[in-house]
Amino acid sequence: MTGSLTFEAVAQHIRGRFGKPYVYEPECESTQLLLLGSGLPEGATAATDHQTSGRGRMGRPWTAPPASSVLVSVMLHPPPERHLPELSLVAALAAAEAIEGATGLTAQIKWPNDVMLNRRKVAGILSELSERVVVVGIGMNVNQTLDELPRDTSTEAGSLRTLTGCSYDRAMLLGSLLFRLERIYDGWRHGGLADLYGEIGARDFLRGRRITVDGKAATASQILRDGRLEIDVGSHETRAIESGEVLFAR
Ligand code: BTN
Repeated sequence: MTGSLTFEAVAQHIRGRFGKPYVYEPECESTQLLLLGSGLPEGATAATDHQTSGRGRMGRPWTAPPASSVLVSVMLHPPPERHLPELSLVAALAAAEAIEGATGLTAQIKWPNDVMLNRRKVAGILSELSERVVVVGIGMNVNQTLDELPRDTSTEAGSLRTLTGCSYDRAMLLGSLLFRLERIYDGWRHGGLADLYGEIGARDFLRGRRITVDGKAATASQILRDGRLEIDVGSHETRAIESGEVLFAR
């Protein structure tokens, strides 16, 4: 066990409006449930050291041993003109930057919502919407050992520890994540994805890879400026997809 995500541990690392108020439970079902329908203002943050019913995308579970990872949800009130599916890329970029700041390695974004380090998934994003209020949940694998990582995942999981050999201060990582998320989100609020595109495009993990999208083979071309994924389905035909389960060949 390395540290904790209590308010006392995290407060010194909170530098902006994200993280205020800060709701901490030592254990809960899911940090998403601490915020959904809560009426809390933008930037409100819920964190825990253990989820008993952590939620992943597509109804999958998100599991991590107690006190091993960063498990956080942030309340967002995006303006009506913004395209909400883009928020997964916004959060993924923030998580990638926080990981890069801690490890000194380049992290990549696997469209639409995974963060990769050395070809392993180290963080995932879940955005849940209710009446244009979005709760963005971020799970970051930090100090798990190899045998503590889930095995039954479509994309092989890693943690910062398994990939670098070092343990990390989770409270500091969470502070860094919130600070970066606030800055990137504010950029998106004002200018949309176009303003962030350079940073996202530079970390595009799938670009040029052989993939399957919902079971159909293709080659990933690139993340587009509007947040969709352009794929080459053969015979010089490209398509832009909004969502889907993308698997890649190793
Ligand atoms: C995925 O890759 O499937 C998304 C995983 C998102 C997990 C995080 S952990 C914090 C927040 N609470 C949850 O129950 N899920 C998200």
